Amino acid sequence: MQTSLPLTLDRSARVPLHLQLAEQFRAAVRDGRLQAGHRLPSTRELAKELAVSRSVAQAAYDQLHAEGWIAGRTGSGTYVADVVPLPPAPRQRARPAEDTRPALLTLRPGIPYIHPQVDPGWRRAWREVSAQAPPRGYEDPAGLAELRSALAEHIGRVRGIACGPENLLITNGTVHGLRLLLTANSRPGERIAIEDPGYLNAVTAAQDHGLEVVDVPVDADGLRVSTLGDDLSAVYVTPSHQYPLGGRLPVARRNELVRWARRTGATLIEDDYDSEFRYDVAPLPALAQLDLDRVVHLGTLSKMLSPALRLGWLVAAAPVIDRLTALREASADWPAWPMQAALLAMLRDGYLDQVVRRSRRLYADRRNHTCTVLSPYGQIIGQDAGLHITLLLPDHVDDRAVAAQARAAGVAIAPLSDYRRSIPGPPGLVIGYATPTTPDFHKALKILTRVLRT
Ligand SMILES: Cc1ncc(COP(=O)(O)O)c(C=O)c1O
Repeated sequence: MQTSLPLTLDRSARVPLHLQLAEQFRAAVRDGRLQAGHRLPSTRELAKELAVSRSVAQAAYDQLHAEGWIAGRTGSGTYVADVVPLPPAPRQRARPAEDTRPALLTLRPGIPYIHPQVDPGWRRAWREVSAQAPPRGYEDPAGLAELRSALAEHIGRVRGIACGPENLLITNGTVHGLRLLLTANSRPGERIAIEDPGYLNAVTAAQDHGLEVVDVPVDADGLRVSTLGDDLSAVYVTPSHQYPLGGRLPVARRNELVRWARRTGATLIEDDYDSEFRYDVAPLPALAQLDLDRVVHLGTLSKMLSPALRLGWLVAAAPVIDRLTALREASADWPAWPMQAALLAMLRDGYLDQVVRRSRRLYADRRNHTCTVLSPYGQIIGQDAGLHITLLLPDHVDDRAVAAQARAAGVAIAPLSDYRRSIPGPPGLVIGYATPTTPDFHKALKILTRVLRT
C-alpha cells in the first residue's frame, strides 16, 4: 500500500529519520491531507517505499502511536486516529517598536554611569560567587540571612536606620518591593497619595492593585504634608530628593508627616532611590529612622551600580517583613541566589562604598558643569543631590516640543510634563547627567544648548 503522501527524508539533516517521518505524518493530519480512519501502510511497506530500514518506520509509528496520532493493532493495520484538527491560534500583534535608536545620546534621568572597564572589585565578587557550590534548597524567601545582616549594618551606617536582619527583605528593586507591599497591605478602593509630579511606576503599581491615587502637590521642599487628607491608607514619598523636582524634605515636614501617619494609621512608603549622592552636605538620615512602625523604606542598587542587576531592599517593622516573607514563599518570587551572594561579597569587600565614592566625584563635576552650561536657559532646581537636575523653562514654552527637537538633534531628554498628572506647574526638562561617557556628555550638552537657544 502506498501512503499517497509525498514523504521526503533529508539524510544529511541532524534530525533523525524516524522523527522526520513522524513530523510529516503529523503535518498531514493537521492540514487534513490524512483523514481519520485512513489506513496507513505497514512498517515493511513504508520502509521499502522510502528505502529505509524497517526499524526507522517502526520507530516513527511508535512515536505517532505514543502521541495519539495513529491507532491500530498488529495484524489489523494502522489507522489515522480521530484527531480533530485545532485551528492555529491567532497571533497577538506585537507592540509597535519604541524609538530606541542606539545612536542617540542620552540625558534622560535614572541610569548611572557604568565605567567601560571592568572593575577588580566587581570581578572579585563574581569570582567569589563562582567558587561556591549552589545552595541545596530554596534558601530564605526574605533573602540570604548573611546578606540581610550585612545590609542592616550598611543601612544603619549610611542611612541612619537602626535595623537588624529581621527588618530586611531583599527585593528586585524599588518597584518590586512596592508591588509586594501593596499585595500584602492594601485593598482595592483604598486611597494612596503620590507626589505630583512624581514617579509614574509607583502610580501604575498602585492602580494595578485597584487603589485610588490621590495627587499631592510638591514645592521646593518636597511633598506638601499639610495637604494630606485623613482618608489615606498610604503615602508614597521621595524625601531625600523629590522625584523629579529634587526638593529635600526638611525635618519639620518629616516630623509633621510622621505625626500625621501616627494619627491616621497610614503607611509612609519612602522611596530612597538616589540618596547616596549628595553634593552639599552628608546624605540626610532616612525618614524610616524616625519611626519604623509607620515607614516602609525602599532602597535600590539601581543608581549605585546598575538597574540591570534588579536588586534592592525593603526595610520595615519585623511583623511586616514576616507577612511579606510568607507571601513570597507562596509565590516563589525572590532574587536569585547568585545575585544576592554577589551583593554580599561587594558589601563585605567595601566595593559598593568604593563605587559610590567614585561615582559621587564624577557626578559632582558633571552636575557643576550642567548647571553652568544650562543656567542661562531657565531656573535650575534639585541640583544638590542625585543623578539629575531639573531645568524650569519659561511658562510659554512647550517642554515636550523642546524634548522632541532635542531628540531630532540626537539627544534623548525627559520633559517635566511627562511626570505631571493633575496638578499644573511650570514646564521644564529633567536632565540626567550620569549615564553618558564623558565625551558624549559634553556633546549632548552642546546639542541641548543649541536647541534651547532656538
Ligand atoms: C523615583 C525612582 N524610584 C526608584 C527607581 C528605581 O527603581 P528600581 O529599583 O525598581 O530600578 C527609579 C528609577 O528610575 C526612580 O526614578
